[in-house]
Amino acid sequence: MSVHSSADYKRITTHRLQEMKSRGEKIAMLTAYDYSMARIVDEGGIDVILVGDSASNVMAGYETTLPMTLDQMIYHASSVIRAVKRALVIVDLPFGYYQGNSRIALESAIRIMKESGAHAVKMEGGAEIRESIVRVLCAGIPVMGHLGLTPQSIYKFGTYSVRAKEEGEAAQLRSDAIMLQECGCFGLVVEKIPATLAKLVAESVQIPVIGIGAGGQVDGQVLVIHDMLGINNEFKPRFLRRYANLHEVILGAVQHYVDDVKARDFPNESESY
Ligand code: KIV
Repeated sequence: MSVHSSADYKRITTHRLQEMKSRGEKIAMLTAYDYSMARIVDEGGIDVILVGDSASNVMAGYETTLPMTLDQMIYHASSVIRAVKRALVIVDLPFGYYQGNSRIALESAIRIMKESGAHAVKMEGGAEIRESIVRVLCAGIPVMGHLGLTPQSIYKFGTYSVRAKEEGEAAQLRSDAIMLQECGCFGLVVEKIPATLAKLVAESVQIPVIGIGAGGQVDGQVLVIHDMLGINNEFKPRFLRRYANLHEVILGAVQHYVDDVKARDFPNESESY
């Protein structure tokens, strides 16, 4: 178990992530979308917090990540930033705010950095969004790439199944990873791809490669916090390890509270003024 003290509050930077890869030290990354959760996650010693557009699913209840707006991402990101003392905070550029052209991408990334105080942005895609990535990087904004299963393209893929099992798609993914590194991205997420391919990608680039559903031979791991805490107990992909069953804990607490109120047990005398 890792609980760090205030002496450990040396901030994580993109440079430190690079050093961690060079040293062979694994990078731990989780999502967070609000102040209270981000405080706990940061206190737990996480290296990177992703304000993911998975907020669309787990916070807003949408089926896909597509409805997320830039204003909503900025709201979530600024809540997280107010909580965090140590972790590097990366924010997803949401669907529709960078694919159109590089100017739109730059304006969106600048709004995120200026209005939320985040440290970096993440963008889904490879060669097809190269121009947008380069323009954002030219403004001095650190960019993390995201390849493999890119949920903003779910209607192109049709399913959330494993990507890049065929040689053609695997070769494209490898060349996109190298392209992202050459552009100047500081890191890369690979989602739901074969472990052998993920290992190959991590070995062929110098920047940290963070996996989700991509096996253990990459430079770090990321999970959606609601999934790993078992808040949403219906989502059970093979790659997910549950570290708690908060659905059960919260449900039990709520039922207990309801019973206490109905039974006139709460509040008691010592809980009253
Ligand atoms: O939005 C998100 O949570 C993500 C992770 C799954 C990598 O992009």
